[in-house]
Amino acid sequence: MGVINQLDTQTSNMIAAGEVVDRPASALKELIENSIDAGATKITAEIRGGGTLMLKVLDNGKGIEREDMPKTILRHATSKIKTADDLDGVLTLGFRGEALAALSSVARTEIISKHVNSDEGYRLYCDENGVELDVSPSPDGTVITARDLFYNQPARKKFLKKDASETAACVPVVEKLALAHPEISFTFITDGEKRFVTSGDGSLYNAIYAVYGKETAGNLIPASYETEKISVTGYVSSPEFPRASRRGQVFLLNGRCIQSKTAQAALERGFESYIPRGKYPACVLNITVDPLSVDVNVHPAKLEVKFADDRKIFEAVYCAVRNAFSLNAKAEEIFTEEKKEFTPVYGVRDDTEKPLTHQEVILKNPVPAFRYEKDEAEAVIAPFVPLTDTDEVSSVSEVASPMQELIEEALPAFTYAGELWNTYIVITTDTEMILIDKHAAHERMIYERIRKARKHDAQELLTGITVTLSSEELAAAMDNASLFEEYGYTFEEFGGDTVIIRTVPAALFGTKQETELFKELCAAAADGTAVPLTEKCEKAVYTAACKAAIRAREHTKPEENIALAEKLLTSPEIRYCPHGRPVMHSFKKTDINKFFDR
Ligand SMILES: Nc1ncnc2c1ncn2[C@@H]1O[C@H](COP(=O)(O)OP(=O)(O)OP(=O)(O)O)[C@@H](O)[C@H]1O
Ligand SMILES: [Mg+2]
Repeated sequence: MGVINQLDTQTSNMIAAGEVVDRPASALKELIENSIDAGATKITAEIRGGGTLMLKVLDNGKGIEREDMPKTILRHATSKIKTADDLDGVLTLGFRGEALAALSSVARTEIISKHVNSDEGYRLYCDENGVELDVSPSPDGTVITARDLFYNQPARKKFLKKDASETAACVPVVEKLALAHPEISFTFITDGEKRFVTSGDGSLYNAIYAVYGKETAGNLIPASYETEKISVTGYVSSPEFPRASRRGQVFLLNGRCIQSKTAQAALERGFESYIPRGKYPACVLNITVDPLSVDVNVHPAKLEVKFADDRKIFEAVYCAVRNAFSLNAKAEEIFTEEKKEFTPVYGVRDDTEKPLTHQEVILKNPVPAFRYEKDEAEAVIAPFVPLTDTDEVSSVSEVASPMQELIEEALPAFTYAGELWNTYIVITTDTEMILIDKHAAHERMIYERIRKARKHDAQELLTGITVTLSSEELAAAMDNASLFEEYGYTFEEFGGDTVIIRTVPAALFGTKQETELFKELCAAAADGTAVPLTEKCEKAVYTAACKAAIRAREHTKPEENIALAEKLLTSPEIRYCPHGRPVMHSFKKTDINKFFDR
């Protein structure tokens, strides 16, 4: 006699439920996603006792027809797809027809719904005694209540954490869905207390403000980037306010909350050198792609998706972050100007326009918009270090590109007010007082120059410098000659384990670091650890920039300070030192006046 039994529906539902509903947070996610799929413009989610005692989601969506009511709790019953082909490019958040079957098999579940085209509402109730369906008065829409989660599965219930922890797990679920759908007004209530209400006015900024509060919203900068196939819009945290964990990173893909290693890596790469290692940026980034280019059916909780082209996603997120820095304007300020209406800032456009390139973004928004005062200009006698800046400045003026001209036109007006403790340069404009950290600013400039240096920014040496390496270093350096060249170094073998350096990064020319960085790069190349070579090189460049930069408390001449300030104001990408410390801080005149009661 055979030993294989077919499990009854109830048992197989309960087993399947483990994947779909493993704790209150996942049940809540499923219910809210159903409300979003039903076209709701208002959703209220409420939990009690960590969601185990009660989970309730009420919406004003299209509702459920009478004949569909019993089908909602059947497995593989869905109104969202008909055949497997419909899975390609599926736009709804649900598509498996599993969630309510799972939930109703592990919780006492009540569904009250009135379809928009029906005169009557209905109530379906399901518990250990079976399923009932009655007529029930109801406004248009649906309210689903699940009580006593895992009442019939004591083993599973035992694995639930304390109520406070289960509530804590529910919070980000509702937060993220509210951010993914700013066009829907969300209300979230835990144990009778209102956590947040979003306005549903379509503004992502307003949704972030409602969900995370004024302070977080105030420290965000808008980020956007668009190509023909991908658009990224949203906000990233200002590098001045990095987080201790990745918890503040929210990625949304076509209205879905997703976990994506690619997007996360791109975000963090974009912040590299802007914030210290071990700290993390926060973001709410909406990635929009052709639905056909992602597979949403690769994860049981629909959390992960598979992109047809991961690289493109990486690039788009990275560029959005970099655009954000060049805009360098706080979201809050933009919104005050925009009268709190959500207008995506730059890089987002109507269909007739071409997407903005990174440089256009900077051009559109020269930051900061100072005017330049002639008298001050003449005070700039000796351009500040790096030493080759003199050459650079003159060659720039000879072949000034339209972009440079525009920036120069936009450059302006500050008055050099002096220096504090040989450390901070003080400048003023009509509306601000700005303190510049001399060392941090200079360090960042050198770093950027080395990083951006390609052959053209290499300084040829009249007499080469010879350096003796270990044989491993020599071999590794020869193998990576093209990478060295990118940093501005060209060299040749000079007999034995010695090489002769022919060109060095212009930014380090004449400093001790011109040789030191070369040695560091050789050591990095020979170092057998798994850390990627580019990362090791970056580290060496930080160190070289730090050492080559003017020190804090070191005396510098006013004209040098002015040149540094000027350079800084025309380089919107330079706002943080390579270790993530800010290079400048501005005090608004209005705030100073306010302080003195003026
Ligand atoms: N709030 C709601 N408003 C209107 N219809 C709903 C609502 N919740 C569920 N339904 C209906 O019940 C069906 C079953 O819901 P369920 O969540 O189990 O499956 P699904 O959303 O289709 O797929 P998935 O399992 O991926 O979530 C849905 O396809 C939908 O037709
Ligand atoms: Mg669903």
